[in-house]
Amino acid sequence: MDARLAGDPCRLRGRGLVGHHELGSSLVSFDAVAPESGLELTILVELTAEGLVAVRGTLTNTGEPGYQVDEFTLSLPVPARADEVLDFAGRWGVERFPQRRQMGVGQHRREGRHGRTGPDAAYVLHAGTHGFGYAAGEVWAVHTAWSGNHVHQLERDLNGHQALSGGELLLPGEVRLGSGERYSTPWLYFAHGEGLDQVAGRFHEFLRGLPHAPSAQRPVTLNVWEAVYFDHDAARLLDLAERAASLGVERFVLDDGWFGSRRNERSGLGDWVVSGDAWPDGLTPLIERVHDLGMQFGLWFEPEAVNEDSDVARAHPEWIMQPAGRLPVQARFQQIMNLSVPEAWEHVFSQVDAVLRENRIDYVKWDHNRDLVDAGTAPHGRAAVHEQTLAFYRLLDALRQAHPHVEFESCSSGGSRVDLEVLRRAERVWVSDIIDPAERQRMLWWTGQLIPPEFQGSHVASGRSHTTGRWHDLGFRAATAVFGHLGIEWDLAQASEDELSELAWWIHWYKTNRDVLLAGRVVRIDLPDPDTYFKGVVTPEKAIFSVSQLSASPLGNLGMLRFRGLDPDARYRVTAIDRQPIPPANRPPWEAAPVELPGRVLMQAGLRCPQLLPETAVLFELERL
Ligand code: GLA
Repeated sequence: MDARLAGDPCRLRGRGLVGHHELGSSLVSFDAVAPESGLELTILVELTAEGLVAVRGTLTNTGEPGYQVDEFTLSLPVPARADEVLDFAGRWGVERFPQRRQMGVGQHRREGRHGRTGPDAAYVLHAGTHGFGYAAGEVWAVHTAWSGNHVHQLERDLNGHQALSGGELLLPGEVRLGSGERYSTPWLYFAHGEGLDQVAGRFHEFLRGLPHAPSAQRPVTLNVWEAVYFDHDAARLLDLAERAASLGVERFVLDDGWFGSRRNERSGLGDWVVSGDAWPDGLTPLIERVHDLGMQFGLWFEPEAVNEDSDVARAHPEWIMQPAGRLPVQARFQQIMNLSVPEAWEHVFSQVDAVLRENRIDYVKWDHNRDLVDAGTAPHGRAAVHEQTLAFYRLLDALRQAHPHVEFESCSSGGSRVDLEVLRRAERVWVSDIIDPAERQRMLWWTGQLIPPEFQGSHVASGRSHTTGRWHDLGFRAATAVFGHLGIEWDLAQASEDELSELAWWIHWYKTNRDVLLAGRVVRIDLPDPDTYFKGVVTPEKAIFSVSQLSASPLGNLGMLRFRGLDPDARYRVTAIDRQPIPPANRPPWEAAPVELPGRVLMQAGLRCPQLLPETAVLFELERL
């Protein structure tokens, strides 16, 4: 524990430990007091059934008012032999980009100051033994479960002592403790495993054990954003819904643009009232048609955001987060609603609640598209990111409680609010705004270091990626997307008949296999070429693997694909799904008809990798006989 308190001359480093209580077989509370300072400290440590160590601290001021908490991080020791560090960096569109280096003396400290989890969050900070991989090497990890400013850190001293830590990053003056007041840190989750897959597996099992965890039967979705953007033409959207349903889609999500004066990015955000201009008959005709077609209906909100050109901002400019005397620089033409102002919170709650009460809505896509910069409370401008983060949780919790049948997605510009605290109250994250499958191979792979496939929104978009401009055929787009919670984000009116029938085939295949894809254990396997992704999801009955190559390999053929996670003593029937334009003569013979092999052979000798064209993927179904 390392608490830095303005006004307290000492650092509380475990001073005055007065005892600990076992609160259950796996929950212990450590209590410490510093009577001369009037401070009490409680640290809860829980060993979860999945083998995570969850830690949270609470500091109480039992004395006079006057403490300001500047930092309160919690640490666990890690052996010195863990001398390589792996975590993530990134930016919008390049979320969860891995970075790895040798650890030396000093700190590897990662700060997130976006006021949301951020596209560049360290995400999971690992320390491992030399050369650790997916299945080998000892790995220790920490995740700070917090959707505001936060810290992840590995620190090593000259004696080889080393610790992983995390906590909230507090801005000056955000937390002041009056008499009897307390501050609690976020939950930190520590993990240890043989290789990265075991660490990831513990996080996956933890999420799968939460009461609201989605089942593998979750509905295939169509999100309209890249299909229509702000063109909310009712006839066009009804047509899209019909086309989606005919392909087997099970949930239809109406994105940004249905409310207030929101006909483009510059206006209307914050006015959560169905637009009479865009929807003169309200949303009901579309919602009813979607339900009649057998699909669920989802709706987009960005409850923490506001355009200055909106009714709410005109009526209550003081509800916008701001330093004293001026508004922050706009981002995406928007500002942030200060949910720590009770009236602002109440306003947003009642508007969103009314839309959910007055319409049959099954799903909410909850966005959050700008960083919290100069995020203070008017008129004094005191920093309020801490309060805003708590108010966001309260808002989402209250809406969930009022609408228990509604599922929520954490979007945030795609991928900027992915953490275990938001996932206590969301059933899905939108992994990234980049749907290009060549980027998504990496993103799904590494987003999976914390969250399992069923929580990862994973869409098939149009042939030409709207964000990168690259073209990909449907085989690669679909073979990539099926390793998550599948959706379509494509103007189906522009798709050819061949594309539509191929898409229907993939949707059917996905539904047949989602029990495996969304419930299995995830394994990742290194191949000699770093630009390849070889991974699988494994259940006792069946496994599905994918091999994908992003650029022409200097190595030529990648050699033998040695599968992992199978039962060595069972026999498997292996079927390939290879949609590459390669003549039969150039394909391995086992692609022409399924082969049957023992798990031991598949894992130890493997199958020869098919020829892979750049930016393609081949799938393997391994059915246990
Ligand atoms: C963000 C989301 C997108 C879409 C747009 C709408 O960028 O990530 O999926 O919802 O906002 O403005």
